[in-house]
Amino acid sequence: MRILSGTQPSGRPHLGNYYGAIRQYISLQAGNEPFYFIASYHALTAVQEPELLKEYTLGVALDFLALGLDPDQATLFAQQDVPEVTELTWILSCVTPMGLLERAVSYKDKIAQGLTPSHGLFAYPVLQAADILIYLSDLVPVGQDQRQHIEMTRDIAGKFNQQFGDVFTIPDPYILDDTAVVPGTDGRKMSKSYGNEIGIFDEGKTLKKKIMSIVTDSAPVEAPKDPERSTPFLLLRLVASAEETAEWEARYKAGGMGYGEVKKRLVELIDESFAPFRERRRELESDLDYVMDVLGDGGRRARAVAQEVMHRVREATGLTTTY
Ligand code: ADP
Ligand code: TRP
Repeated sequence: MRILSGTQPSGRPHLGNYYGAIRQYISLQAGNEPFYFIASYHALTAVQEPELLKEYTLGVALDFLALGLDPDQATLFAQQDVPEVTELTWILSCVTPMGLLERAVSYKDKIAQGLTPSHGLFAYPVLQAADILIYLSDLVPVGQDQRQHIEMTRDIAGKFNQQFGDVFTIPDPYILDDTAVVPGTDGRKMSKSYGNEIGIFDEGKTLKKKIMSIVTDSAPVEAPKDPERSTPFLLLRLVASAEETAEWEARYKAGGMGYGEVKKRLVELIDESFAPFRERRRELESDLDYVMDVLGDGGRRARAVAQEVMHRVREATGLTTTY
């Protein structure tokens, strides 16, 4: 099965990215044909400083490799190394109804967060559709907030196929319910744009400070508490074993437990879970040639597939001239 997903290089990855998306990338890589890319064209809608964009792009490659992406199983590449995707974006734009884009929630969210309303930001879902369709992807692992983009991709592919013949595979989203929305330190969805994130590679004092700052209610220690409405518990169950999670759940319900206690344990568990990845990332940082090789190789492999599909797209649409 062809798996595909993209990640914007717009900052350091956080626990929401890991449990909502990256962990699924890694678990799906064996036995499938995965394509994972760094969505640099998408990031250009927000990051417009060349040095920063380069740094973040390399950063995502380091993160993914450190977290277990295996370049022998998965094709890891940067979006700009397959420029054909921008050609497909234009072609798809011509079968994308304005109404579809006008209903996009992420565009409205981003404007509300203060991003400049550019044409690129508005057309963002069409570029995302091109990313997915150009590799004839079957399955797209993402977090809940990307569901609408995958729906739009399916609509756009359907419109194209209806008009020009069956070129594209209609992809399915792959979204796990229990990690669909990981909460941040303020209880809202964890997101770089809310500044409430806990970074995968945060450690020491930074990590401790962030965990201790998680917002909780003011219930006294002795009161029984509802674990499902408590951010420290919702995060703890991502990192703790099933037995330990059950123990904490019982302690919440029984009362006599303060939030400070669970936060302290959360720091330890995050440290235990992510220490090997942090170590691996440091090693990779001192071997950037290797990382560049992986990206170069991945880009070539991905581009070969994209060129083949674009050939079919040009034939189907009449964008071919034989001189
Ligand atoms: P951010 O909101 O921090 O900018 P991105 O939009 O770059 O995150 O998301 C990258 C991937 O991680 C997407 O597949 C997205 O659905 C997933 N993701 C992001 N935040 C969360 C979260 N809090 N819970 C679950 N998945 C998330
Ligand atoms: N929009 C996605 C995000 O913000 C990133 C992305 C770009 C993507 N192209 C994609 C995800 C294709 C899945 C498939 O997270």
